[in-house]
Amino acid sequence: MCGIVGYVGDEQAAPILLMGLSKLEYRGYDSAGIAVRNEVTDKIAIVKAKGRLKTLVEKTDGGSAVPGTCGIGHTRWATHGEPSETNAHPHCTDDRSVVLVHNGIIENYQELKAKLLRSGYTFYSQTDTEVAVKLVDYYYKKTGTPLEAISRAMLRIRGSYAFGVMFKDYPGKLFAARKDSPLIIGQKDSGCLIASDVPAILDQTRRVYYIGNLEIAELSRDEIHFYNIDREEIQKDVVEIQWDAAAAEKGGYEHFMLKEIHEQPKAVQDTIGAYVKDGHVDLSETGLTDEKLASLKRIYIVACGSAYHVGMVGKYVIESMAGIPVEVDVASEFRYRNPILAEDSMVVIISQSGETADSLAALRLAKERNVPVLSVVNVVGSSIARESDYTLYTYAGPEISVATTKAYSTQLIAMYLLSIQSAFVQGKLEESRVSELLAEMETLPDKISKVLDDKERIQWFASKYANAHDIFFIGRGIDYAISMEGSLKMKEISYIHSEAYAAGELKHGTISLVEDGTLVIGVMTQKDLFEKTLSNMVEVKSRGAYLMGLTSYGNYSIEDTADFSVYVPKTEKYFTTSLAIVPLQLMGYYVSVAKGLDVDKPRNLAKSVTVE
Ligand code: F6R
Repeated sequence: MCGIVGYVGDEQAAPILLMGLSKLEYRGYDSAGIAVRNEVTDKIAIVKAKGRLKTLVEKTDGGSAVPGTCGIGHTRWATHGEPSETNAHPHCTDDRSVVLVHNGIIENYQELKAKLLRSGYTFYSQTDTEVAVKLVDYYYKKTGTPLEAISRAMLRIRGSYAFGVMFKDYPGKLFAARKDSPLIIGQKDSGCLIASDVPAILDQTRRVYYIGNLEIAELSRDEIHFYNIDREEIQKDVVEIQWDAAAAEKGGYEHFMLKEIHEQPKAVQDTIGAYVKDGHVDLSETGLTDEKLASLKRIYIVACGSAYHVGMVGKYVIESMAGIPVEVDVASEFRYRNPILAEDSMVVIISQSGETADSLAALRLAKERNVPVLSVVNVVGSSIARESDYTLYTYAGPEISVATTKAYSTQLIAMYLLSIQSAFVQGKLEESRVSELLAEMETLPDKISKVLDDKERIQWFASKYANAHDIFFIGRGIDYAISMEGSLKMKEISYIHSEAYAAGELKHGTISLVEDGTLVIGVMTQKDLFEKTLSNMVEVKSRGAYLMGLTSYGNYSIEDTADFSVYVPKTEKYFTTSLAIVPLQLMGYYVSVAKGLDVDKPRNLAKSVTVE
């Protein structure tokens, strides 16, 4: 998830680009760059800098060192290729005849790169974007028109993208195109703009056009033309943006957490798209081979907080699907408990930030003992990613809210993928069953969207419980793992004491805390455990508890017991966490909002815990 901005008009482009990028820095902050065409020299200057945007601002003297009235800029969140100046955007052909910025993920970039290599292209970076710019150039050389070059490249690219493109032969023109990544076009009296998000251009104009999937825009100082993928001109209406600047930064949502909850379908889709190719799991990008997976006799999953809860789900899924014994450890315990690590085993470290001190220490311990490490990490080039033998990147994009939501959801996908492929290569799953599971996994983004459509009910219920003192979450099996995460979301942002229990364990002590009106949330997505957990619900109800039941469509008998029921779409038993967690994230969120708390920055917490 990167930020794009572009300007063509009468004013100097660089200061506008830098200002726009500063508003988009939340979308990516590992490097930034601008390309501006100098009308005097007729050359396109490209300046890039690793690190925060301020380095680029210093390097360009606030933009004054890069004169010109037409340019594109980018702030990067690394997906392919570590954060570095070379990998930073804009990317270009050797003679700078085409210069391009990109937000998104090109799934088939390796295949396209191979094709371009065969045609004599060379590559200086590890990015999928460099493949895109050279692909556009390839078609430009064939067709001679920017529009046709871009549309033909779009037809070849699989994945998501928003592009801003400049052609050396077309001074005073910018091109933009998109599929599944955001991009808007702005118009002001002295020129036109492109941006991946409203905040980038809000101080320039409130008049925008929304460019649709597989559409292209051609911008010059006074004119914007829109085309469909067949290069037929299409008409668009201008929209007047009403948001204030703060709301715009959060995409119109009140908080980053709510925005990120809503970004989950896309984050999940991108992560699936990166590793499921032609109906198969392809983990080659991680460095992990099928031979390695086939040899595994034991897996140790080590992580902290929500990532640890993902590990708990991973244990259930991997053990029951692949039959490989899995141990899950909290990293701060693992590192000091002198763990006995078996032969033919692998340690899996899960970490959004890739910088969590305890997880990093656990990784180093595993390496000291010669056990290979696979990390599941969201931040490219982070310490954990760099020190691992294999890295499975999740594609959640930057997460701003301290409480994780979309990164958690993508980590779940990583667990499913690891499980399916391990089971397949170890002969525990037939190919046809793999196809079935992958097909079902691909429905998860839509099903998550469906759960999100129902958020008003959760909001209503959450506001009733904003003053609760204690909340208990119960579940069995995977539902216990979901309860753990639901409970953490609740307590960390609402400051309500909350605990998760394996449903059968409650009566061994904790049930004494249940009194009249105590809210107990029962998670019951697993068919074979439904009745069991239901009977635990009845136990607490008879002690005065108020019950919320969370289950899948069809299990309507829950209404006989629960006071308030929430349903999520049906899915494979292995994947239910991806759906059931969403109402629980919303519960925590809305309780926190109802209490007027600082949702995105809860007290005492930090986004990345780099100390023990
Ligand atoms: C809770 C949360 C934390 C993190 C934990 C690990 O919402 O975000 O519990 O999951 O601090 O962080 P990473 O994944 O960066 O290692």
